[in-house]
Amino acid sequence: MKFGHIAAACLSLALSAGAFAQTTTLKIGYATSKESHYGVGSTVFCDEIEKGTQGRYKCQHFANSALGGEREQIEAIQLGTQDLLNTSTGPVGNFVPEVKIVDIPFLFRDYDHARKVMDGPIGQDILTKFPSKGIIALAWTENGFRHMTNSKRDIVKPTDAAGLKMRTMENKVHMDGYRTFGILPTPMAFPELFGALQQGTVDGQENPIPVILSAKFSQVQKHLSLTGHVYSPALLLLSPKVWNKLSDADKKVFVDAAQKASVAQRKKVNDDENNGIAQLEKDGMKVTKTVDGAAFREALKPAYVGYAKEFGADNIKKISDVK
Ligand code: PAF
Repeated sequence: MKFGHIAAACLSLALSAGAFAQTTTLKIGYATSKESHYGVGSTVFCDEIEKGTQGRYKCQHFANSALGGEREQIEAIQLGTQDLLNTSTGPVGNFVPEVKIVDIPFLFRDYDHARKVMDGPIGQDILTKFPSKGIIALAWTENGFRHMTNSKRDIVKPTDAAGLKMRTMENKVHMDGYRTFGILPTPMAFPELFGALQQGTVDGQENPIPVILSAKFSQVQKHLSLTGHVYSPALLLLSPKVWNKLSDADKKVFVDAAQKASVAQRKKVNDDENNGIAQLEKDGMKVTKTVDGAAFREALKPAYVGYAKEFGADNIKKISDVK
């Protein structure tokens, strides 16, 4: 082989090795710690895309709201300044209105019901509404059923909750429902919540057990009531800026990875529900396990009139009827 040929071969080898070694690092954000349900799901997603793209994509994790509140992070996904977000639906309905229906309190009977709806035609159809809003929804993940905590008293029925100033997500569907319990809803971004509870700006808040554990709310809240008043779905969101650059094969890797993440995240929610309550008791919380669910549902009836008007009674029934 002539020198010129050898040089050309070396150059082409070097170029292909360079292309092979090129790695894109994606920024992924979520509200709680890396060990929490969001962290577990996000880690599985990131491990899977790294494996499935032979290292061409990997993640940098921004846990504990390091990139801001969930609303801010959704805006960043739209802008393309953040790549990935594992978020509750809390603020998502402000961007994709079709999501709001799944935020109705007492809509889902249990985890089995909620997961069937999300993984079935209703939930999957909602995912198709995202791209026109500048967001790619890869899969439903999970936050969990929300329970109330406060610094004042045990909550068994709505009259116990009445008058409590309670932080809520920036979610009108929740707030309309909680008002019927007599609660004074105070919408606030999650990163501000620990301080607000500590300073007594609000009396309480509501979140799933994995969040109450991870955020260490036992340090600032005495009473936990297992109200399970609303299911809090979550989503793994991706910026279209990234999605539009992916090959079809890589798109499949990302979607499959998101589905695996969802399984892992849901398992962590189950594990925390099973073991976390005892831990919170050990940490000093007084846990009310028997709540008058019927009284909460009864109180909620006026809000359901509004939900039926906004979302259609038939559409709500379609979700309730899923077995
Ligand atoms: O309460 C909230 O805002 C959400 O449940 C949280 C903790 C950010 C997790 O998605």
